[in-house]
Amino acid sequence: MDTENGTDAERGAARQIEPAESVHAAELRFLAAYDTGPRPPGWRLTPRAVVLFVCGSQGVVLELPDGAAAPGQAAGSDPVRKMEVSGKFVGDRDLIERCVVTLAGERALMLVGEPGTAKSMLSELLAAGVSGDSTRVVQGTAGTTEDHLRYGWNYALLLAKGPTGEALVPSPVMAAMRGGGVARIEEVTRCLPEVQDALVSILSDRRIAVPELSGSSDGAVYAAPGFTVIATANLRDRGVSEMSAALKRRFNFETIGPIADPDAEIGLVRRQAHGALAKVTGQTAFGVDDAVLGVLVTAFRDLRSGRSAEGWEIERPSTVMSTAEAVAVATSLALAAAYFPGDRDVLSLVPGHLLGVVRKDDPADADRLLGYWDSAVRRRAQDGARTWQRMWELRDVLKG
Ligand SMILES: Nc1ncnc2c1ncn2[C@@H]1O[C@H](COP(=O)(O)OP(=O)(O)OP(=O)(O)O)[C@@H](O)[C@H]1O
Ligand SMILES: [Mg+2]
Repeated sequence: MDTENGTDAERGAARQIEPAESVHAAELRFLAAYDTGPRPPGWRLTPRAVVLFVCGSQGVVLELPDGAAAPGQAAGSDPVRKMEVSGKFVGDRDLIERCVVTLAGERALMLVGEPGTAKSMLSELLAAGVSGDSTRVVQGTAGTTEDHLRYGWNYALLLAKGPTGEALVPSPVMAAMRGGGVARIEEVTRCLPEVQDALVSILSDRRIAVPELSGSSDGAVYAAPGFTVIATANLRDRGVSEMSAALKRRFNFETIGPIADPDAEIGLVRRQAHGALAKVTGQTAFGVDDAVLGVLVTAFRDLRSGRSAEGWEIERPSTVMSTAEAVAVATSLALAAAYFPGDRDVLSLVPGHLLGVVRKDDPADADRLLGYWDSAVRRRAQDGARTWQRMWELRDVLKG
């Protein structure tokens, strides 16, 4: 066999990213055994267990009720009767409950928000928790067509056998309809209006007509109970293809905001950067201490909100200072510490990375960062905070 061209499974290839249901397979199995209450049609877990999966058990070790069978194990290992569920989405639990209730009612859910607020991550986690499959996803772009939402054909089979069910290539949405699962549509507002209209009809009729098959059946694929859609839309893309009122009416909207609590954001950045470092290097030593993370996340929050924790006004750059990018910078700092140990202190790398994040859209943003240095950073340095004094000394980096 030609191993270069074989499938991933044949080649035993490692994957850069695993879907949420694979990464968290043990938690999903445990939660299915932990909460055996009634589930909405097509659901793998109860609504309560889905919320637990997304938000985590907040340090509580969950124990299976007496008499509940432990989930299936690898041969020879002890059954798992206790587990702490890891925290994944950081934010309002009520919001997650509302999302879960929307999906339990088979209504479509729209997650909107600024870039990098974990809309895609949340949609993946919800799909994994509800239907055990987060991979039925259509990425919305200007090139997305109606067929990407509906179906296509295997042309070799179509020519050989004509339009049969065998030759039909279902879209991820059609596959989710058949299986009674969750389909995900990313960046809906990047799709052209006619593609969005196709979604309106799928969500209203809950079936996709396949006229080519009408000889052998009524020529339609119907949604099984449980089918629903989670879509995401970025507020910065407003106006690319504004959603029609008809489309909006078919969704329950939830707005995902930036993380409110500074300590929770620092904790998340530490956890995710640590995880990313371990994945790349296999090392567990994390060379970015809390003081550095504190400076980094504080700068992101100040520039994102236009106001510091002390209440000082700050001129905001036009770039979104997202948590996702704070994680990326913290990961770069940790990698620098791992691969270039002892070269430079990690703190001294922070201004250069911040400049890289800020200077994307508008050249004037670099001046705004300098303005931040001359106001908030200087004042904190004058107040005697050591890490901020060091930041102030590094001001020249920003002129580069
Ligand atoms: N509230 C949060 N809880 C957990 N992780 C978060 C949160 N906010 C941001 N993140 C970080 O953001 C990363 C994922 O961002 P994601 O791609 O899901 O954002 P998005 O809102 O879909 O962004 P975009 O609009 O650019 O598509 C996560 O892996 C995590 O590191
Ligand atoms: Mg996204």
